[in-house]
Amino acid sequence: MATIGIFDSGYGGLTIFNKIQDTLPQYDYIYLGDNARAPYGTRSFEVVYRFTRQAVMRLFEEGCRLVILACNTASAKALRNIQQKDLPLLDPSLRVLGVIRPTVEAIDRISRTKHIGILGTTGTISSQSYTIEINHLFPHITVTGEACPMWVPLVENNEFTSPGADYFVKKHIEHILSLDPAIDTLILGCTHYPLLSDKIKAVLPPGITLFAQGERVAESLADYLLRHPEINERLTQKASRRFLTTESVDKFAETASVFLHQSVDVEHVSIH
Ligand code: DGL
Repeated sequence: MATIGIFDSGYGGLTIFNKIQDTLPQYDYIYLGDNARAPYGTRSFEVVYRFTRQAVMRLFEEGCRLVILACNTASAKALRNIQQKDLPLLDPSLRVLGVIRPTVEAIDRISRTKHIGILGTTGTISSQSYTIEINHLFPHITVTGEACPMWVPLVENNEFTSPGADYFVKKHIEHILSLDPAIDTLILGCTHYPLLSDKIKAVLPPGITLFAQGERVAESLADYLLRHPEINERLTQKASRRFLTTESVDKFAETASVFLHQSVDVEHVSIH
């Protein structure tokens, strides 16, 4: 019997976990934040893959058999290798899923102009993962990416409501809209970014939709479990939650309560 693992470099995955637990409250979950090594967004492909692989292995050791990479950077840079190289050697019945594919699947429905903007970390944008997936599924959609390297540090350091955040939000929103004025939908392609939603909406011109991934990823997981009863029947359903961090448990507990609107018990882990 097994638990569902949720992984992010830090706190961002909690915006996904929040929606997953709203949709599928009955399952048992372990959340792992690699806060000691966050942010991942400016790290190389090799490093993001190595760190993500270590985290996923840790979640398997903790009893997970299904792990969601609730991180776009890890989904862009590590998911394919983990799925194609590591899992077949380790145990082909283990599953690791990302957040980019479910997000892309929803895009055609949301955009009227078929011009989409992706806001993400430097790693996610330079990997071109969104552009490649969108071109593959919806070749008629025009995609423009904008790397926002300061946004994750603002969230990780609890500065996302500060006046300093306004500057960095405005800068990137104005820039991406100047690159393609026909954009009618901006995707928050980083799980930390929903925390900046209010600030982003404040500078968005009317008629532009801001799309956060959480609900879509939760809906996609529910659908996946329906389509894969062999996985679903191995998942325990006692509604338990564990939170693991590689950094300070007190800081994680304090920040997680802002994301989740509830207090949580946190355990420290070392991963390597
Ligand atoms: N939350 C991760 C993402 O979705 C981000 C980031 C990071 O560590 O830079 O990309």
